[in-house]
Amino acid sequence: MNTKKIAIAIDGPAGAGKSSISKVVANELGYLYIDTGAMYRGVTWAVLDSHVDVNNQKEVEALLPSLDLTLEPTASACKVYVKGQDVTDLIRQQQINENVSTIASYKGVREYLVERQQAMAAVGGVILDGRDIGSVVLPNAELKIYLTASVDARAKRRWLEVQGTSNEQPLEDIKKNVESRDEMDKNRDESPLVCVEDAIVVDSSNMTFDETVKHILHLVQERI
Ligand code: DC
Repeated sequence: MNTKKIAIAIDGPAGAGKSSISKVVANELGYLYIDTGAMYRGVTWAVLDSHVDVNNQKEVEALLPSLDLTLEPTASACKVYVKGQDVTDLIRQQQINENVSTIASYKGVREYLVERQQAMAAVGGVILDGRDIGSVVLPNAELKIYLTASVDARAKRRWLEVQGTSNEQPLEDIKKNVESRDEMDKNRDESPLVCVEDAIVVDSSNMTFDETVKHILHLVQERI
């Protein structure tokens, strides 16, 4: 059997399940999984930690050379380090959710991270998930998927995920955050979230997690 290693780009709006699905698909295939959203979150954490004004693009971009941001893909997650500190859990806090779309809208931040993402992906046999993978980071990816779901389905999943954790929030607040991130990610000037022409749309609103994984694995099998 031909087991060609391909590059897989998974884009889509916040809360569509890209990260958890990509992780499982990558494990099944023995591929490297790169969570690019975690990198934008890592930069956001560093900006907040340094007390730099999130809305000051110049100051944010000036911070980049000293960041030493590292993404360490492991079997269960992508660990994120900023200046040697493990911030993997810290980047999931609500304060990061509220500020990350602003940081991700800055050209200098995107250039800094895209360069790193392309270097990591060069090994082949990779799955990258984000907003601009098929359009900017890996325009030649052999498989491009636009993974989406309705706003209600995405908010409900996120709400279930945070039940019993310190990030617990009312469903309505989560829905508002999902909507505002969609709005910012789709309408920014720099690499907005788009569904590229050669992407396959997977709407998981009425699919279970396992069904979505199975469907994506089937799409991969068609290409390898
Ligand atoms: O996938 P996520 O929710 O962890 O992403 C966090 C934010 O980063 C999201 O608001 C959009 C942004 N992002 C981006 O602009 N480009 C990417 N490739 C990945 C994430």
